[in-house]
Formats: sequence, C-alpha cells, structure tokens
Amino acid sequence: MPERTRTLVMTGATSGIGTHAFARLAARTGTRAIIGARPSSTRPDLDGVEVLPLDLSSLSAVREFAAAVPGRLDGEPIDMLVLNAGAHFRNTSARSADGFELAFAVNHLAHYLLARLLLPAVAQGGRIVLTTSDTHDPRIFRSAPTRIDVRGWAQAPGSAASAYAASKLGNLLTAEGIAALPETAERQITSIAFNPGLTGGTGLSRAFPGPLRQVMNALRPVFILLSRLRPQLYMNTPEHAGDVLAQLADGTLTPPAGRVYASLVRGQLAFPDPSALAQDPAAREQLWRESADLTGLPPA
Ligand SMILES: NC(=O)c1ccc[n+]([C@@H]2O[C@H](COP(=O)([O-])OP(=O)(O)OC[C@H]3O[C@@H](n4cnc5c(N)ncnc54)[C@H](OP(=O)(O)O)[C@@H]3O)[C@@H](O)[C@H]2O)c1
Repeated sequence: MPERTRTLVMTGATSGIGTHAFARLAARTGTRAIIGARPSSTRPDLDGVEVLPLDLSSLSAVREFAAAVPGRLDGEPIDMLVLNAGAHFRNTSARSADGFELAFAVNHLAHYLLARLLLPAVAQGGRIVLTTSDTHDPRIFRSAPTRIDVRGWAQAPGSAASAYAASKLGNLLTAEGIAALPETAERQITSIAFNPGLTGGTGLSRAFPGPLRQVMNALRPVFILLSRLRPQLYMNTPEHAGDVLAQLADGTLTPPAGRVYASLVRGQLAFPDPSALAQDPAAREQLWRESADLTGLPPA
C-alpha cells in the first residue's frame, strides 16, 4: 500500500530561519506543503507548494487561513504545524488590525489563535512547533517579563525589546499549554517551543539600524568568542537553526518526555529549563485564558 502523503502547514517560511527549515521539510518526496504568507513575501521556489494568504497582523485573516487549510488538504490531517513567523519592530507605536501592539499581535496572539483553530486538524502523532526565543527569560535578557500581563502587553506601554520578549514568552507558554491539554496526550501530539538563539543574517534585524546590522553579521566570530562568557551571544547561522527546526518538526529530533522547550545553546540543541515564569502552571493557565479572551475563543 502506498504511504500516506506527509502534510506540513507553516508560517514564516519565506525568510531567514524558516526558509531553510521549509526547504528541508518540503524537499522530502510525498510531502504536501501549505504556507501562510503575505502577498509581498518571497515565494519558495519549489514545486507543489501551496501559498495561502496570511497576514498575522489581523485576527480575521488568521481565521480565514485556518478555515481554508482543511479544504486544501482534502481532509488529510496535519502532520507538522510549524508556527515560525515573527517580527521585531523599532518601537511599540504600530497597531494590528485589531488594535493590539503589533509585535505581540503578530508573534503571539495570531499564533495562539492559529494553533487553537488548527489543533483539531493535527494528526494522531503529529507535531506542533512554535518558534520562541531565549529573550523570554529574565536571566538572559533584561527586558524579559517577570509576570503575566496579556492585556498590558497587548496595549504595550513598554519598549520594543520588552514587547518582543513578552510575545516570545507567549509562544513558549502556548506550546506548554498545548502540551498540557488532555487531547494532546490522547492523540500523542508533540508540542515544542524552539529557541534558535541569536541568529545573524535574517530579516529580523531589519528592526536595527543598517550599520549595526552589517557590523553584527561581520562580527560573528567575535560574538562566538564572547559566547564563552555569555552563551546567549553565540551567533547561529539561519541554515543551522533552520535545519534543527526542521528536524524537530519532522521527528528526527525529539525532546525528552515531559520537556517542551528546545534551545540552541552555543549552537548545540539542548533542553534546558525555560524561565521560572515559563515553568509555572498558573502563569501558563493565565496566559491561555487571557489570550483566549483577546482572540475571541472560549478558554478551553
Ligand atoms: N534571528 C534571531 O536572532 C532569532 C532569535 C530567536 C528567535 N527568533 C525567531 O525566529 C523566527 C524566524 O525569524 P527570522 O530571524 O528567521 O526572521 P525573518 O527572516 O524576518 O523571518 C520572519 C518570517 O515571519 C514572517 N512574518 C513576519 N510578519 C508577518 C506577518 N505580519 N504575517 C505573516 N508573516 C509574517 C516573515 O514573512 P515576510 O517574508 O513576509 O517578511 C518571515 O517569513 C521568529 O519567530 C523569530 O522571533 C529569531
């Protein structure tokens, strides 16, 4: 009997880390791939890839995308749901279509909604990977959150750095929240939050002034040297980070039982403890509840 086609649904496949992860995942024969991307995005140059419009800055666009996916898969379940898109802005003045701070809306609220809407379509034994960041952790990043304040983050009185860090904590707690659902265990779904670590040469550095961007990339060896003192300064390549993301998505790499956080530490995949807040079930439940409220979903 022929093997069933393997299905992939992905955001953030059009640039940086995601381009490399997507190329590796979609290249395997028998993979059916759907990506959600903005009309302005660079389309992957691969046969058979379906691109559906998705602007994560609008919750109604997320709902339309989620509603379109099952039909495009002809009822096949999703084997790999990779929620990798992300943005870092220069300040917190921009708002989403729904009036929320843009980084928090795009990175966290949109992906929380998308994960919940598509979860029923994820296959038995399927995998969900959300790309987070070690900037969620106050031990590593000064602007990281120390308490849950979803409504406050959505209005963002703080800095661009704190808005980004809060959104990445949102990704991590969403992955933890999915892992804690009874249906996830029943259907043997693996939920992972992946931190690629500092990765040079991606579109994320568009937020930084041009000269700083160029200097950062040219100084990669210096960052690697400095990482002996501070491991978070190790600068990965998009190729390596994308490769590891793909391996976590297709099951080549798997976290130990009970672990959700997968992190590149000095370029090596590890499964360290995330921040204290990210280990707190009460924080996870609060984020889940308040995100449901803001995205118009029931809490459970
Ligand atoms: N680079 C790092 O140092 C680093 C460190 C830790 C975590 N991360 C995380 O890694 C992930 C990938 O980032 P990257 O560094 O590879 O950056 P990137 O090159 O800028 O890629 C970001 C991806 O997100 C998509 N995206 C952004 N805004 C969107 C929107 N409103 N609607 C739909 N798609 C949108 C982009 O689409 P377009 O092609 O349309 O722009 C692109 O495909 C992000 O979640 C980021 O937070 C990165």
